[in-house]
Amino acid sequence: MTILITGGRGKIARAVTAGLISAGRDVRIASRSPEDLPGSVGWDFDDPSSLAAALDGVTQVFLYAEPSTAGLFAAAADAAGVRQVVLLSSMSAQAGNDEAASDPHAQTEALVGSGPYATTYLQPGAFMSNAIYWSHSIRATGQVRLPYLDAEEAPIHEQDIADVAVRVLLDGPGGEHDGRGYPLTGPESMTRRAQLAQLAEITGATFEAVDLTADEARVEMSAMGRPAQIEALLAYWASRVGSPHPIEPAVEKLTGHSGRTFRTWLADHPGVFA
Ligand SMILES: NC(=O)c1ccc[n+]([C@@H]2O[C@H](COP(=O)([O-])OP(=O)(O)OC[C@H]3O[C@@H](n4cnc5c(N)ncnc54)[C@H](OP(=O)(O)O)[C@@H]3O)[C@@H](O)[C@H]2O)c1
Repeated sequence: MTILITGGRGKIARAVTAGLISAGRDVRIASRSPEDLPGSVGWDFDDPSSLAAALDGVTQVFLYAEPSTAGLFAAAADAAGVRQVVLLSSMSAQAGNDEAASDPHAQTEALVGSGPYATTYLQPGAFMSNAIYWSHSIRATGQVRLPYLDAEEAPIHEQDIADVAVRVLLDGPGGEHDGRGYPLTGPESMTRRAQLAQLAEITGATFEAVDLTADEARVEMSAMGRPAQIEALLAYWASRVGSPHPIEPAVEKLTGHSGRTFRTWLADHPGVFA
């Protein structure tokens, strides 16, 4: 009854690992760079034998995936007899979103969900941990440069995503989570401008918040290597200006506690802006 956790070096995977270990479960951690993560096994899509080895004896998986590799994962998990997969997806994959058909997370959900095991899709909105990227920008330039500073988000703490994943994995396949997508948010809607103001207030960081035009953002986001999602993201942020973000109930329903606030996230990560 081993549970495989992929994306081992990621913040969510680390929190899922800790939660499952404290619940007494047998876990195996997989990483694309096992040399950087002691105790992990290799997870290399260019080497299908690494997937078979990592999945040997595994009944459940916490999965990071993308469209180009999701089909390979589904075949390997099927061959290994996996019974449940909890996929870290995104709110952008939700049904009803006009952009969903071309959304990489929606494509990944379809490919992973084609396997014979039970699949649950975790669909978080913006991560509070995006503030780590802002901290890099502050150090490098003294600025945070974002489009649509007045767009409302309900950012979520990585620990809340992990708590939901742990709940679903501990409940196991064959129940209410099979085939379900869970949109996940934090507990409060905040503009990006308000997140930056709170960050400055709590951490003492000094920086200039630069509200990029959409055209400026296209140039800067392309340079950061996310061309496929730029137009969808810009349209989404534009739609959220003046429109408070709905707060999804799944974190509270599945974990029994309210979502952690951005203030809590900042307190939990004192080193980020030190
Ligand atoms: N940032 C947001 O606001 C947001 C919102 C909603 C959804 N998401 C989605 O959440 C996921 C994680 O995002 P993140 O920014 O926290 O994580 P990240 O730093 O990009 O990646 C976290 C871990 O996932 C593994 N990983 C990364 N790319 C991978 C790939 N192509 N194939 C397999 N494993 C991969 C890596 O672990 P190893 O190197 O140890 O294998 C990495 O340490 C992404 O799919 C992202 O689109 C992000």
